Amino acid sequence: FAPDAPKPAGTVGPDDAVVERTEAHRHWSGRTSAITLTAQPGTLDLAGRQARTWLYGDGPMSAAVRIGAGDRLRARLVNRLDAATTVHWHGLRIRNDMDGVPGLTMPAVPAGGTFDYRFVVPDPGTYWLHSHVGVQRDRGLYAPLIVTDPHEPGDHDHDETIVFDDWTDGVGPTPDAILAELRSGRTGGPVRPVMAPSSPWGPMLSELTYPLHLANARPPEDPYVIRAKPGQRLRLRLINASAATPYRVACSGHRMTVTHADGWPVRPTTVDTLLIGMAERYDVVVTVGDGAFGLVAAAEGGKGVARALVRTGAGATPPPDERPAELTRRLLRYADLHPAAGSTLPARPVDRTIRLLLSQGTSRRPTWLINDQAGPKGKPVTVRQGERVRIDLVNASAMAHPIHLHGHTFALADTGLRKDTVVVLPGKTTSIRLQADNPGRWMLHCHNAYHMELGMMTELDYL
Ligand code: C2O
Ligand code: CU
Repeated sequence: FAPDAPKPAGTVGPDDAVVERTEAHRHWSGRTSAITLTAQPGTLDLAGRQARTWLYGDGPMSAAVRIGAGDRLRARLVNRLDAATTVHWHGLRIRNDMDGVPGLTMPAVPAGGTFDYRFVVPDPGTYWLHSHVGVQRDRGLYAPLIVTDPHEPGDHDHDETIVFDDWTDGVGPTPDAILAELRSGRTGGPVRPVMAPSSPWGPMLSELTYPLHLANARPPEDPYVIRAKPGQRLRLRLINASAATPYRVACSGHRMTVTHADGWPVRPTTVDTLLIGMAERYDVVVTVGDGAFGLVAAAEGGKGVARALVRTGAGATPPPDERPAELTRRLLRYADLHPAAGSTLPARPVDRTIRLLLSQGTSRRPTWLINDQAGPKGKPVTVRQGERVRIDLVNASAMAHPIHLHGHTFALADTGLRKDTVVVLPGKTTSIRLQADNPGRWMLHCHNAYHMELGMMTELDYL
């Protein structure tokens, strides 16, 4: 829609005057990008299997957003579902009232309703957007969100986004059926755990075995193909949009140089393989050889793979279940990554330390807890504007949890690596440092969609 088009009747959203006042400090470039996201029922063709599901437009890649840092996004959400929904802009440090958390920052947009999001996009990087209602994002209600950097040299020939996702809707149990079974504490239906004693995430890797894994909404038999010339440099923006699956990613016959984590530049670090938790992003650069190569995301501890294909020459297409040898080589750890100059959180003494205990409830009905409370109704964590806070994430449970804080990018206490989502391994403590500089009420939760729904969420509020 045109930036100045009149709002259709029933459209809710802030006035331009209010937007301009609350964003006065945000250095707007003067440019505006207007998009429409229509949430609607639709079908994904998965190599001949027709999956009825919920999509933005025609699907995750058709709804991809690309915008310059400093530009204003005007995004109209049109809800053609028979359920209320919202859009959350994962990782963007935007104004609180546009964050898309139902019941916290906005009412959910009812069936048939429309909402105009409007905000200045602050930081370049690889992000994504998704519904923040229930387990809707375990359907197709997500898309990549790429914020381009007008000042970046761009030392690559291709810039490609690859989104990995675990898939069940329309080909297996629905997300709501999975949630109901997890809630009931019974098993034997869709819930089949993945055990992986030798994984850093193990031994209980996931409660769920998915029938399919997708890359750019396509199954491994019918992959998304990147066409390039031998010797060219590909920038691959890897996004894990899955609900409950960590992926081990490798590019067959190649090494990958990690350049960004969760959108933030790191000192380039070359690896064979990396584990990407739910909602995490890594940008890597690969210099491609001659032939056809799988970019493979293997479900950690499981059998399934998602893959895209890089084709630079003749060469046979590798089989859909290919597991490149690189997957078993040395795995990237957070400790290997260091923020690039200009991406560090300025050094400052910590004003306060907050301890968050991650645990599993002990009652018969499964719950996942933060400080012994199941969200969303627990007691919020509070900070003051301007404070430097240390948060100790103490994982007392037997599963790993990718913990995401909205509206901020924190720094890992040991290396300073900037992230918005950090995987806290079972039995381990991860400390993060946070500058409280974006007032509002922000969610902090596990990005396993089912753990979040079963209570592993709390709220960070500015006093
Ligand atoms: Cu990816 Cu609460 O969000
Ligand atoms: Cu979790």
